[in-house]
Amino acid sequence: MSTPSPKSPPTTDADAIEADDTAFVMRPWSHPPGEPVIVARARGCVVTDIHGRDYLDFTAGYFVNNAGHCHPRIVEAATQQLQQVLQVSGKHGTVAAIRLAKRLIELAPKSLDKAFFSTGGSESNEFALKMARQHTGKTDVAYLDNGYHGLSLGSLEVTASEPYRKTAGQPIGAHTFQIPNAYCYRCPHGPADGCKVECLDGAEALLASRPTAAIIAETIQAVGGLAPPVKWWDRLDGIRKKLGILLIADEIQTGLGRTGKMFGLEHYGLEPEIMTGGKGLSGGVGSLAVTCASDAVVAGFFGGTTPTSGGNAVSAAAGLAMIETLLEEKLIENAAKMGRYFTEAVWALDDPWVGDVRFTGLLGGVELVLDRTSKEILPKKIVGRIKDLLHAEGMLITVSGTHGNYLRLQPPLSISAAQIDELVVALRKALEAARQGV
Ligand SMILES: Cc1ncc(COP(=O)(O)O)c(C=O)c1O
Repeated sequence: MSTPSPKSPPTTDADAIEADDTAFVMRPWSHPPGEPVIVARARGCVVTDIHGRDYLDFTAGYFVNNAGHCHPRIVEAATQQLQQVLQVSGKHGTVAAIRLAKRLIELAPKSLDKAFFSTGGSESNEFALKMARQHTGKTDVAYLDNGYHGLSLGSLEVTASEPYRKTAGQPIGAHTFQIPNAYCYRCPHGPADGCKVECLDGAEALLASRPTAAIIAETIQAVGGLAPPVKWWDRLDGIRKKLGILLIADEIQTGLGRTGKMFGLEHYGLEPEIMTGGKGLSGGVGSLAVTCASDAVVAGFFGGTTPTSGGNAVSAAAGLAMIETLLEEKLIENAAKMGRYFTEAVWALDDPWVGDVRFTGLLGGVELVLDRTSKEILPKKIVGRIKDLLHAEGMLITVSGTHGNYLRLQPPLSISAAQIDELVVALRKALEAARQGV
């Protein structure tokens, strides 16, 4: 993927656009060399930058374009909707938003009855927190170690990362607290096959010691691709039901087929009272997220007013088209199959820096270590170098994980085995080249 494609001529004023980006666009971090990639067009699993350079997109537009970039069916649905109606007052409705709500509730677990639309994942979690507190009359919410639920003030209160929490610029978290997650690769209690879910031993007492309204969690943590064993979720779900605590399942990243099932919670048979969704829910158009809830939770909910663009008709039409595309083109099955293929292909490299390969469907990636036995974390600087080398090979990826040593490899669910092979070849080269530099 490293040479410019003849079908993708460079944007004539590419350098000027990059200069304007530097001059006028505010970014929340200082970006490394080679970033940002300014994308001029995108199709399927390939994005093309303003210089005409193609990349295989292992970020799926930040885990949004699950059916592939600019899928014709999604583009057609959005175009049709553009000619009908774009947006109406939140007091009224559109056919597109009603159809999407109905489809979501049909696909969601039977514990969920109604869908409330907002404009982004963080906002949908804010509404989930409000619903849980209003319904239970309790103040506190538990979240998992390593949990990520957004960057707005309320969602930040249930996001674990200290650097992110500091961005609030004020003390936060008076009514939120952490409970353990399941990071089985680094389990302090011993090998996973002898697991007795000891990590949750103190959780019941902790949850009971506070006025806990809800636990908010991803069923599989996207940061690091951490999929707990079924018995872990069985235990936590049992505890929270016994204590009358609601479960808010954040399916913003694990939803819409990413994990090889429509929702991540299906791997565990969970029936939350509240579930949030976003990212690909808009088909890639943006500005659409959802908070689904049970009739009991909905009954007492007072939202005050609604987000202005919640349930935007174009986004809803595109989102519905994406869901139907995932189902009809069997892309969720493909995600499950390609996740297994990816896992085997990366293990087959037998590279000494590959510590763990964790995929559930196409939610996942590779944890890098200096030493497989001690599991010493590969320093961030080297991980960054590997990412840069992959970019130079035309592979767009991101780095994440609690320790910043995890290559997150999450392409559109339409990815083929041949495209995964390209990534794996590039990864082998990048790992070897980075080792030369150590
Ligand atoms: C699990 C999870 N929750 C919440 C969010 C926040 O969504 P948004 O960025 O749309 O506000 C994200 C975004 O990455 C996410 O991955």
